[in-house]
Amino acid sequence: MRCTGATQHDIDTAAGIIRRGGLVAFPTETVYGLGANALDPRAVAGIFEMKERPSFDPLIVHIADLRQMDGLVSAADERVEVLARAFWPGPLTMVLEKSGIVPGIVTSDLPTVGIRMPDNHIARALIEASGCPIAAPSANKFGRISPTTAAHVKKQLPGVDCILDGGKTTVGIESTIITLTDRGFVVLRSGIITREDLEKYIPSDPQSIADVQAPGMLKSHYSPRKKLLILNDTLSEKEKSTAGLISFTGEAERGFGKVIRVSQRNDLKDYAVNMFEAMHAFEDDDEVMMIAAEPVAEAGIGRAIMDRLKKAEYDWRQE
Ligand code: TXA
Ligand code: MG
Repeated sequence: MRCTGATQHDIDTAAGIIRRGGLVAFPTETVYGLGANALDPRAVAGIFEMKERPSFDPLIVHIADLRQMDGLVSAADERVEVLARAFWPGPLTMVLEKSGIVPGIVTSDLPTVGIRMPDNHIARALIEASGCPIAAPSANKFGRISPTTAAHVKKQLPGVDCILDGGKTTVGIESTIITLTDRGFVVLRSGIITREDLEKYIPSDPQSIADVQAPGMLKSHYSPRKKLLILNDTLSEKEKSTAGLISFTGEAERGFGKVIRVSQRNDLKDYAVNMFEAMHAFEDDDEVMMIAAEPVAEAGIGRAIMDRLKKAEYDWRQE
């Protein structure tokens, strides 16, 4: 491995790898990303290969400053500026009309590109030192649990030869993705920045989310290698005794073989920060036969949490 920490020397080494068309895993505030030069189609092809990601699933392009967006998008109205000023750097991705310099492989040949400025100094230092925007999906195998630590990246992508280690990420779930229509914004993927947060700046488009599609938003995602269920009362005492519970309120813990409490203060932000780490821990624990996760109300940040849990559960419901 050519870089493992996040010193300036590591960042310079990583930037050299990016400039030469290689791949670098790096921290953002949400999850770790697997990055390549967004303007180099061969480098970007390497991301799809390493992740075993289908080509119909477009990548988000990461920028370090607003000027970098100018070359990447062909049209950005004043609403983009308003939202950028309010939420960037931060966990918001805006899907915008792309310019001709963004290769088709980045956007799955869509006329749009997802752009975000991450709120992580290592990520932005890497983009600056590389001198190019960086296309990066989450640094996990396609469909599997997202990584919130460098160790999670190493577990799923042992072939990556540079991981900048910035410790555990501070948000824990992927960015909120929006697109803009004539009537307002539409949320394509929920995250820690909620619809209500965005509505303080621009109106939401009342049309149903089903009318606007984001490719790559599949029913199954974030999936552990062992059964995960959203907690319900059909679990027998015997099943509980060998199951791991991702616990939020603390009210459902009795009878479970193992428990990871994601919040000590009933804060949904803590659930977001710790949920993927808890899934990884139970996936790796040979004494845990299945994983149960405590549901929360689907409002505010709870929408983003339940979205992840439902997708993580999806494959295991089909039995
Ligand atoms: O927080 C995040 O967004 C993380 C970190 C690394 O920045 N990245 C991330 O990327 O979650 P990924 O590849 O796991 O998810 C990208 C998703 C795609 O699956 C797709 O649904 C949506 O973003 N997307 C990207 N470009 C799009 C476009 N042009 N139109 C519609 N949806 C797009
Ligand atoms: Mg992902």
